[in-house]
Amino acid sequence: MSKMVNPCKYEELSDEEKYELLKKVINDYQRKESNLIQILHLAQVIFGYLPFEVQTFIAREMDLPFSKVNGVVTFYSFFSTRPKGKHLIRVCLGTACYVRGGKKLLSRLKEMLGIDVGETTEDKQFTLEVMRCIGACGLAPSIMINEEVYQRVTPDKLQQILTERGYSGR
Ligand code: FES
Repeated sequence: MSKMVNPCKYEELSDEEKYELLKKVINDYQRKESNLIQILHLAQVIFGYLPFEVQTFIAREMDLPFSKVNGVVTFYSFFSTRPKGKHLIRVCLGTACYVRGGKKLLSRLKEMLGIDVGETTEDKQFTLEVMRCIGACGLAPSIMINEEVYQRVTPDKLQQILTERGYSGR
C-alpha cells in the first residue's frame, strides 16, 4: 500500500483530502470487488462512518452497482452509516452479562444519555451500542468504552465511568 496519513489525523482532513485518500486506497486494492470489505473498512476509518455519499463514491470508482456496496455495508454490523460519537459505549448483552444486570445497565445508559441503541448524543460525545460476549463473563456485567473494558459494572458506577469521559449529566 502507498503511504498513509496518521490515523489520528483523519478527522483533521478536509472532505476533498479524505476522498483523495480513499481513491488511493481503492487503487491500492486494485479496484477489485474481492477487496470491497477491506476498502470499506478503511473508508470507515477515514470518514468515521459510511454515509450514502461515500458508498456512492466507492461504487463509482470500483465500477460496481450501488446496491452491491450498500448490500455489504448493511450486512455487516461493524459498518455504520451514521456518525459515531467520540466515546463508543458498547454494553455486553451476552448470556452472563444479560442475567447479571446488563439490561439494567443499558436502561440506565439510555436514561443518562437520552439516546437509544445505535444513536449518538447531540454533542457527538457518546454513541450507544450493544454487543455479544466480549470474553469477560467471569466479571459480568461488562461494558466497553472505545477499547477499554469495564467489569462488574453497576448502574451507580456508570455515572463515575462516564464522568471520567467528560459526561456532565443531562
Ligand atoms: S457475556 Fe458479557 S462478557 Fe461474556
